[in-house]
Amino acid sequence: MSKPNFAPLKLFITGPTYIRDAIKEAASLPEFGHRDAENDLRFGPIRENLCKLAGAGDKYEAVFFLGSGSTSMEASVRSLVADDETVLNVSVGAFGDMYYNLAAHNGKKSENLKFDYGEAIDMDVLEAKLKELKPDVVTFTHNETSTGVVNDVPSICALIRKYGAMPLVDGVSIFGGADLDLENSGAAMYCTATQKAMALPAGFGIGFISKEAEEKAEKVANKGHHHDITKHLGRARKNQTLTTPNCTLANQMYVQLDYIVNEEGIQNRFDRHIEMRTMVEKWVDGLDGFEMFAPEGHRSPTLSTVLCPAGVTIDQLKKGVKEALREEGYLMDPGYGKLNTAMADSGRRLVFRVGHMGDITPDMLAEYLGKLEVELKKL
Ligand SMILES: Cc1ncc(COP(=O)(O)O)c(C=O)c1O
Repeated sequence: MSKPNFAPLKLFITGPTYIRDAIKEAASLPEFGHRDAENDLRFGPIRENLCKLAGAGDKYEAVFFLGSGSTSMEASVRSLVADDETVLNVSVGAFGDMYYNLAAHNGKKSENLKFDYGEAIDMDVLEAKLKELKPDVVTFTHNETSTGVVNDVPSICALIRKYGAMPLVDGVSIFGGADLDLENSGAAMYCTATQKAMALPAGFGIGFISKEAEEKAEKVANKGHHHDITKHLGRARKNQTLTTPNCTLANQMYVQLDYIVNEEGIQNRFDRHIEMRTMVEKWVDGLDGFEMFAPEGHRSPTLSTVLCPAGVTIDQLKKGVKEALREEGYLMDPGYGKLNTAMADSGRRLVFRVGHMGDITPDMLAEYLGKLEVELKKL
């Protein structure tokens, strides 16, 4: 068979992201049966190390949905919002809207509280909405990938709880790249995925489930099969998955989590992400006409959004800069499509993104920013 002609691009998008050779090699570890003792050798340490990375203490259990981050989010809504309840979805961008759509498309009584692109959740506005709507459940995005805005999980969960609602959190694009301290976060369920700051291929949605969520799910009807966290917890307690897992990914995940916890060190990983965010901030400071988009104090450690000078067009970013970088061996992120279309339509300046998550190193990022700068200066 002839070899496929796939370009070996270095991904500086916001996920999937760069995968180290050691993880590619781990894909060739032996296959296994998911109801055999060999399964335990993978998923036992995986579950333990994931909880360490989350700072979950003994308050949460990790379950795996075959799918991706949105599978875990959909399971959170189907398992934790009863048919007669109301869910408030709080959105600071495209992925907050997606949580709302997941709830609405599953027939849940839902309302979307939207903030403008680039804003974090405003606590006063949220509080007023909680008083008015009296929701039973509230969802929000930890790290909004379309805008690069990070929300403060513990204080938002505390506010939601003050009004008696249950907080569900989408942490898809930040988990594994920043200190979560899940144990003290207040989240009832925290959803994430493998292909972002954990630097693995996509394939599992991950849910960290609290005792409180477990108890509620037992009383919720119509959870389906793969979206039923009660069924997942039953299997997870045997270190198993509800359905046949992606065994290749499980082998890779075993190796990657062992590396993160026992070689790189969890705190070093978080520090490296902050260092890379600071690098981008300094780089943008030195670029005439460009500015950071997300407000200071709410800038993501895993991806940065950069506001372009007035007059830069979507075509210039997508066809010019992105394609020029492809020639150099990089996949550049010209900005979240719907966001830039909305920005262009309302006469606002466009935004591009730099993904710096997972196993990308400061040296790799410095090299990329150098190449990107050359192209941006041609605009
Ligand atoms: C913040 C956020 N939430 C949810 C998703 C959806 O996750 P997935 O594509 O893994 O289903 C993404 C994907 O980019 C995301 O960035």
